[in-house]
Amino acid sequence: MQEILDAILSTDSTSADFAALKLPDSYRAITLHKDEEQMFAGLDSRDKDPRQSLHLDEVALPELGPGEALVAVMASAVNYNTVWSSIYEPVSTFGFLERYGRLSPLTKRHDLPYHVLGSDLAGVVLRTGAGVNAWKPGDEVVAHCLSVELESSDGHNDTMMDPEQRIWGFETNFGGLAQIALVKTNQLMPKPAHLTWEEAASPGLVNSTAYRQLVSRNGAGMKQGDNVLIWGASGGLGSYATQYALAGGATPICVVSNDQKADICRAMGAEAIIDRSAEGYKFWKDENTQDPREWKRLGGRIRELTGGEDVDIVFEHPGRETFGASVYVTRKGGTIVTCASTSGFMHQYDNRYLWMSLKKIVGSHFANYREAWEANRLVAKGKIHPTLSKVYTLEETGQASLDVHQNKHQGKVGVLCLAPEEGLGVRDAELRAKHLPAINRFRDI
Ligand SMILES: NC(=O)c1ccc[n+]([C@@H]2O[C@H](COP(=O)([O-])OP(=O)(O)OC[C@H]3O[C@@H](n4cnc5c(N)ncnc54)[C@H](OP(=O)(O)O)[C@@H]3O)[C@@H](O)[C@H]2O)c1
Repeated sequence: MQEILDAILSTDSTSADFAALKLPDSYRAITLHKDEEQMFAGLDSRDKDPRQSLHLDEVALPELGPGEALVAVMASAVNYNTVWSSIYEPVSTFGFLERYGRLSPLTKRHDLPYHVLGSDLAGVVLRTGAGVNAWKPGDEVVAHCLSVELESSDGHNDTMMDPEQRIWGFETNFGGLAQIALVKTNQLMPKPAHLTWEEAASPGLVNSTAYRQLVSRNGAGMKQGDNVLIWGASGGLGSYATQYALAGGATPICVVSNDQKADICRAMGAEAIIDRSAEGYKFWKDENTQDPREWKRLGGRIRELTGGEDVDIVFEHPGRETFGASVYVTRKGGTIVTCASTSGFMHQYDNRYLWMSLKKIVGSHFANYREAWEANRLVAKGKIHPTLSKVYTLEETGQASLDVHQNKHQGKVGVLCLAPEEGLGVRDAELRAKHLPAINRFRDI
């Protein structure tokens, strides 16, 4: 592993040098163990501690298949799917691996008694499989997390529609929270040259998701002038949605839960901010009954901030807790676009406000290759910036996941895999210097 790292750290290694490197038989990775699936049975979600379920193990290097690459991972990031996996909610991810394993002898490799997690990476290609022409050993890359087979016609207009669509490192094995990862080469994209490894690894999943959900015509298709209500505006998804709204000439109305998060939204350039804790919204009177007066109070607050306008788009992901309010506050003809249900997936809303006001609810999930590529391109051009707030070592992934589980983090939380320290991997110092304050926004607060 040291030879791989030396080749990456040296400035004059060639593609041939990388191709000649001997690959190790095993590598260190963050895993879940199948025999621990029931370890949190009966516990409340908030009492399930990722530090107990996430292990740092030495695992065997998987065999490389056609159309795939083995990548030396310099850095990765924690996503909320790492939290879901680590607390075995809503289901154990080993079921995904078993199902994938039944597809073909090649996918059978994924069905193991351990699951290597992680849906983001920045690193260097070590080997490519048969049929790969676009990438070669030594290429500095990031990987998006869409894994598709594309053997059905269903996915050929929009690869997210492939019946065998999976999220790499969540519904497949050999993810990015490891020293080496296995990806399909149609997941690879150029690493933004002005970013460090850990910065480059952090946008991937959430940036692509926010791009499809808000900007793409497959999502809300945001346009100039739109008012966009963004829940969790300083969180993983929200920190990119806020940037997209601002960059696209829309007005974000950022919902956050404390002063520090409000300051981060201001630092990104947002002006309309709602502190949901300080303003004390209680959308539910009890477990089964919502309080429409609280929806109205939120709607009134939005109008105060927008000069009397309602929102064209709600960027939804908290789910059950906020969905009724989201449907209510959307303007006539507007769109509620949802990609998640963090607080519960059985939503309840008053349908009269949807049909009478001709609103739309749009489901959105990750992004196709093109959308992920476009989102990464905007990062590479310095138009959208990483929102990295803190970086952990691979050994500390459990703690990093606990922070996200407990909503103690800001933006994104990074993880160093092979990178021995932060700050490495910058190839375009000039572009970096131009954007340094924006790149560090989430670290400075
Ligand atoms: N479908 C997809 O492709 C996809 C992709 C990425 C993420 N997701 C899902 O989307 C969700 C959010 O992911 P993320 O990375 O943005 O997580 P995150 O970094 O934890 O940010 C979510 C933010 O939402 C706010 N929030 C949480 N619970 C809330 C509640 N009950 N009411 C109002 N606001 C609440 C919090 O902000 P404040 O406390 O400041 O309000 C939190 O910071 C997760 O469930 C994740 O699995 C789905």
